[in-house]
Parts: sequence; C-alpha cells; structure tokens
Amino acid sequence: MREELGAEAVRRCDELGTLSEEAGRLTRTFLSPPVREVQRRVRVWMEAAGMSVRLDAAGNVIGRYAPPGATGPAFLMGSHVDTVRDAGRYDGILGVTLAIAAVDGVRRRGLALPFPLEVLAFSEEEGARFGVPFLGSRAVVGSYDPDLLARRDAQGVSVAEAIRDFGNDPAALPAAEIAAPAAFGYLEAHIEQGPVLESLGAPLGLVSAITSQSRLTLTFGGRSGHAGTTPMGARRDALGGAAAFVLLAEAEALATPGLVATVGQIAALPGSANVIPGRVTLSLDVRHPDAAVRRAAVERMLAAGAAEAARRRLEMEATPVFEHAAVPCDAALSAVLRTALGAMGLTAPSLVSGAGHDAQVLAARWPVAMLFLRSPGGISHHPDEAVLPGDVALAVGAMVDFLERLGGQRSGPAADDATGGASRGV
Ligand code: HGY
Ligand code: MN
Ligand code: MN
Repeated sequence: MREELGAEAVRRCDELGTLSEEAGRLTRTFLSPPVREVQRRVRVWMEAAGMSVRLDAAGNVIGRYAPPGATGPAFLMGSHVDTVRDAGRYDGILGVTLAIAAVDGVRRRGLALPFPLEVLAFSEEEGARFGVPFLGSRAVVGSYDPDLLARRDAQGVSVAEAIRDFGNDPAALPAAEIAAPAAFGYLEAHIEQGPVLESLGAPLGLVSAITSQSRLTLTFGGRSGHAGTTPMGARRDALGGAAAFVLLAEAEALATPGLVATVGQIAALPGSANVIPGRVTLSLDVRHPDAAVRRAAVERMLAAGAAEAARRRLEMEATPVFEHAAVPCDAALSAVLRTALGAMGLTAPSLVSGAGHDAQVLAARWPVAMLFLRSPGGISHHPDEAVLPGDVALAVGAMVDFLERLGGQRSGPAADDATGGASRGV
C-alpha cells in the first residue's frame, strides 16, 4: 500500500507543479491566482482520504480526520504549498501530500487512533512575496500583527489587501488560530534540500533542530551620475559599495564554521546602463545552528560593510526583517519516529535543518518532529529538485507506523504492547 500511496503523493506534487503565476517556471506566492486551484485540488484529496475540510482567512487548507473514538486534542501534520521563484515541485508540497497519504494509510489500515488528525496545507512559508516568511503558519499560532498586515509587496500591495483581493477578510485571521489545547503535536515531512542524506546513502532522516536565521535589508546610498563624464575618483557608486559588501559577507561565512550567508536579492537604482547607481538595496540571509555565533557574524559583517561604505563616501543602512532562534525538535516525538523507522530497518541519521520550516513556528505552541527525505544531488529551490519514489513510499510507511505507535502511547501501556517493536507496515 505504501508504494501506491507514495506514488500518488509524488504525482500530486507534479500536478500542483503545473500551477504557477509565471509562464515557463514554477512560482506560487502568497494568495496569488493559482493558489485557488491549489486549494481546490488539496480539498478534493483531503476529502477523498476521509477528512472534513475548512479554509481559513490566511488561505490555509485544513483537513480533519476524526472517526468515532478519535477525540480530544488532535495530532497535526503538514507543510506549505507556496514556492520560491523558479522553484522545484517538492519543497513543502510533498509534506502536504505525504500527510494526506498518511491519513489515507491510517484509514485504509483501519487504525483506530484515539485522537483526531489534522493536515495543514499552509498557504505561505517562503516569504517570496512580502519578504517575511510563514504567513500561513503564523495565522495558526496567532502571530499576525498590524505591522505584518501593513507590509507591502513589490507592487505596493499590503498583506491585508492581498488577503482581501483573494476574497478573504483579515478581520477573520484570529479565527484561524488553533488553540494550544486543541492539539498535542506536529509532524512535518520535508525534503532535506541538502546533500547529507544522499552522502550517507540514507533515504530518510530525523531533524534534531532547525537552524537559527537572520534576514536583513541593506541600503547603500551614493550619488547617481553620468557613466561617461564622471571620473572614477569622483564617484559615489552605491553598487560598488554593495558589491564589496557581498564579497565581505561571503568571506565572513567562509571563515566561520557552520555559518551560511546569502545575498539573494539586489536592486540598483536608477537602473540605466549609462548611469552610476546612486542607491542599492540588497537582502542578507545569515544562518547558523547557534544564534550567538550567527549574531556575532552579522555584527562583524555590518561593521566591515559600514567601514567600506565610509571609505567610499557612501551611506549604509541595515534594517532587520526577521530573526528566528534555532528550534529543537521534540525528543519524545522524535523517539517514536526513530522507533518507527527502526522497525522498517532504517537507521535514520539525525541532522540540523539548514532550511527554515513551518515546524519552527508551530514549535512555539506544540512539540514538533520532522522527517527528512533524501534530496538527489542536494538540489532545492531549483527546477531540478527531485525525490526518489522509493524514499517517498518509505516515508508513508514510517508516518503511518509513527501514528500507530503514538496512538498506542496515547491509549495507555496495554495498547502500546499491541504494536510492540515490529512494524505492521503500510
Ligand atoms: O528559506 C528557507 O530556509 C525555507 O526554504 N523557507
Ligand atoms: Mn523553501
Ligand atoms: Mn519548505
């Protein structure tokens, strides 16, 4: 059964991969036009797996599986259905289709879990449209604030306006919140997006923690001028200063073990080939498992950048966009997942996630665990992003077995013996 469920989970990712807001490449940002069709298809898949479905004001699609006897706090699973620009088809989306497959597996196996299951298809995690991530999962933990609603995209549309344009009401966001007592934990399956599992020959892995992250916007101010008549010594070239900063940030990351720093966006104004750029804005993304190391590195980058800007008679301004502490995954939930993997003969390695995930948002309210799937070539945030069907089938089996063991734990010791060590397998 897990092969069939796994193949359908992959097929569904490929199907959603055709729903893009840009011609010729996969880009699907917060509440953009193709999201409505994504919501419709996810609803159909959730209902086919026996779930009742609701949508919330943030555009999340929530499926609930609560057969007779499944009462009390729910166990949550899911991930996000938005993408970065020119994305692959599996980042986030596979976590949603796997969660639906796991519920389907529970139902087909006739597992009588003592708790309801809820699958959360978060509307947005990447931050591609508004520069701040987790617009879906923030609604579930009630962390939308007026500043966030007022944030504007490149077209000047605010988050609140985007919600209204989609036909939802920002005033209904509080109703999207899931109260802490309504759930007791969250599992997110996600592609690793890096090279570790492949290098170890491991199809699946456990996440020990999600790395800490800083995101800032830097602005360099100089003076625009004629490219042909302005002597080099008389220039205040903002792009020259920004370029120097990019290289010093890279050097700092190369010199600090475990640190990664990325400038992914840069805009030079006024943007004509024959005009010296007078103003440059760039993004800075810095990550490290240890927040203190990350913060110190950011400080060093900004200090060096300011010195270089002064030498070039430029102004430099750094604006924090967001910061996330490292988030550990829950040891008890991870132990159940490890047992489930072990029962399948898998010794899943444990690794820190260099990528951010919705699990780090939900961890503010519930214990979380994450299951990683091998990323062939370690490629992600790229059209060549891939998964291996056999790994996806194993993930389905592990998730269903995990839920069965969790059910046994929640039903009491006697029931726990029913599962014992051996996996009854999906
Ligand atoms: O940026 C990240 O780590 C994630 O893909 N949103
Ligand atoms: Mn991503
Ligand atoms: Mn993701």
